Amino acid sequence: MPVPHPIPLPDPPSALSRAQRLKARTDQPHRRVDERILGLGIFDSRAAFARFVRVQYRLHADVQGLYACPVLLRQLPSLAGRQRLSLIERDLADLDVPVPGPSAATPDLGTLAHRLGWLYVVEGSALGGAVLLKMAARLGLHEDFGARHLAPAAQGIAATWRRFAAELDAIVLEPPQETAVLQGAEDAFARVVHHVEAEFR
Ligand code: HEM
Repeated sequence: MPVPHPIPLPDPPSALSRAQRLKARTDQPHRRVDERILGLGIFDSRAAFARFVRVQYRLHADVQGLYACPVLLRQLPSLAGRQRLSLIERDLADLDVPVPGPSAATPDLGTLAHRLGWLYVVEGSALGGAVLLKMAARLGLHEDFGARHLAPAAQGIAATWRRFAAELDAIVLEPPQETAVLQGAEDAFARVVHHVEAEFR
């Protein structure tokens, strides 16, 4: 039987990095989003795929301002140059589909820490982009037409992601902010679901 320690011991440090914790914490919502989106037959026609691109537009528009935030740019220097909203706009133009109008209710992105969680989701989605890009080829779409925003970054998907994750992991946060980052990521996935349901209604 363990002998009670007179002074409460602090929680052991998590073996996972912040990015790994985010991945573990959002595994379920990510799976639900993947299954829902693929279940909607987005590769059955260009029209269906365009709806998915409009979902992407809505999500990326939600966080548009974060890519110009000086505080976030200091914490995540590689944020500069990562924004894919203009590529999504060009994809919609290729597909001859209008850009969605402004959202009726803009999301509350929360504190700076929550915003890190939102950015984790939006930047992490580029990892799945490679898979989606291959599938989009069935529709004659590629990185120069209709599926530009799914194209891997010039430095490669893995290296680009590792850099973002390293920057994210290096930010010093207090435990309540750590919780806020996870909450921000969950909120972002909930927002994706909201956009999917709005677009495929
Ligand atoms: C807007 C919708 C989506 C969002 C926001 C999203 C978000 C994410 C995030 C945050 C990650 C990074 C996970 C990590 O930390 O390693 C990721 C990875 C990934 N996603 Fe998605 N995703 C979306 C749609 C999809 C869809 C439809 C697929 C279907 C194939 C998909 C497949 C993948 C794959 C294969 C990875 C890489 C997993 C790995 O290498 O560990 N995603 N996505």
